[in-house]
Amino acid sequence: SAEFFKKCDSNTLFSGFILADEINSRYFPENFKFGAASAAIQVEGAWNESGKGESIWDHFAHNFPDRIADKSNSDVACDSYHKYKEDVAMAKAIGLDYYRFSISWPRIFPTGYPDEVNQAGVDYYTNLFEELKANDVEPMVTLFHFDLPQTLENDLAFGKFVKVWVTFNEPKTFCGAGYGSGSHAPGVVSDGIGNYICARNVLLAHAKVWHIYNDTYRAQYGGRISMVLDSDWYEPGSDSDEDIEASERVLQFQYGLYGNPIFKGNWPQVVIDRVAMRSKLENYTASRLPAFSDSEIEYINGTYDFLTLNHYHTRMVNATSEIAIGSPSFDNDQSVSIWIKPEWPTGAGEWSTVVPWGLRKLLVWLKNTYGDIEIFITENGVSDSSSHLEDDKRVSFLPGTFKSFTYLSAALDAIYEDGVNLTTYIAWCLMDDWEWTTGYSIYMGFYRVDFDDPERTRTARKSGEYFKNVTATHCLVD
Ligand code: NOJ
Repeated sequence: SAEFFKKCDSNTLFSGFILADEINSRYFPENFKFGAASAAIQVEGAWNESGKGESIWDHFAHNFPDRIADKSNSDVACDSYHKYKEDVAMAKAIGLDYYRFSISWPRIFPTGYPDEVNQAGVDYYTNLFEELKANDVEPMVTLFHFDLPQTLENDLAFGKFVKVWVTFNEPKTFCGAGYGSGSHAPGVVSDGIGNYICARNVLLAHAKVWHIYNDTYRAQYGGRISMVLDSDWYEPGSDSDEDIEASERVLQFQYGLYGNPIFKGNWPQVVIDRVAMRSKLENYTASRLPAFSDSEIEYINGTYDFLTLNHYHTRMVNATSEIAIGSPSFDNDQSVSIWIKPEWPTGAGEWSTVVPWGLRKLLVWLKNTYGDIEIFITENGVSDSSSHLEDDKRVSFLPGTFKSFTYLSAALDAIYEDGVNLTTYIAWCLMDDWEWTTGYSIYMGFYRVDFDDPERTRTARKSGEYFKNVTATHCLVD
């Protein structure tokens, strides 16, 4: 329309970029929201200051430094505990609608239990909320972003500040790495068993929080609440029925393990069938997948207000013959082989290939699998092994040098061409941070943070400038 054309007219854009050809479909709808994310332990620092308790990641990094690439910890990280005003100024400077961050449970409940509230922690978040409000940036708050709360009691004292809550961040990752392979805190190795027990507990806890909010607080605060789920896209390795089925199967194990109980009810059937079959072969008396009772299925089903996706990676998948029965294994339960195409560009690690069409296909899969639910992309980003400011790789990842080769472009195609109800895009991440087991050795921020500088000076990168233009104009340009 003329309106769209006007909005994406080159006059509204900063110099150095030219307009894409299809002006209309390069325009994010007026009410589309942009954001950037962080997580408490990755940015706050002040790990034991003003009454904060120890989290499992503090413990893990202090006691097992060899399990972090650069042997670092997040004791200081970006020092956001002291520098939150600068963080908010950065979010404002690049025009974010949302700043997605998490609340550190041990900062609020140092012992893990809700008996003792650390007022300094409450004050910190209150100040952060006030600062965001004063700057017209909306908070999107994660209740659990890997730094274990010992209790899942939901303190809704912040209800008046927050309209968008997410209960858990990436359970697939923290259940799999924290309680399956053991590579993440707390380092429990229980492959093919811990993953599922954790998933079950997380789903029940999430549902409990959702119901508490729905029954008690929604009328008062009018907010929305869901859980953040992550998935790669798994492209069939060939057009054989087996490989197409393998792609569907792995998506059900990855996203569906959490998505199916929430959006449809119960574990996905393929997961039920396969884990039962393999458990039997392994001489277990019952399936390694703990069942839900009918009332639990009902309790979890429908506990969402929107659907979320954290996405970083596409992989190819082929069906394999049944892997010889040995020790239980979450991977073997899926009976697939997974690989990436060597020509695909990657970020700092192999876990982040830059394959935008994978995002588009995954969005379409979510719509086809769960229905026409409003979707938030709650994380998407690319890691870099250099902390340079001219981060062209990330700039081309965002809008793209080639239209077919961009994530935001793929998101627009999903909206306009596939009718996906995508309303929000949150980038990972606002500023460089402590990246879990990769420590400070990779960089993902719109702002560089100088970790050698006691002031933790932040400097905008080219990608931050680019995103600022997108948030300001809603236009996608090459
Ligand atoms: C997903 C996690 O939610 C976030 O904490 C992490 O830093 C990013 N992936 C990038 O690795």
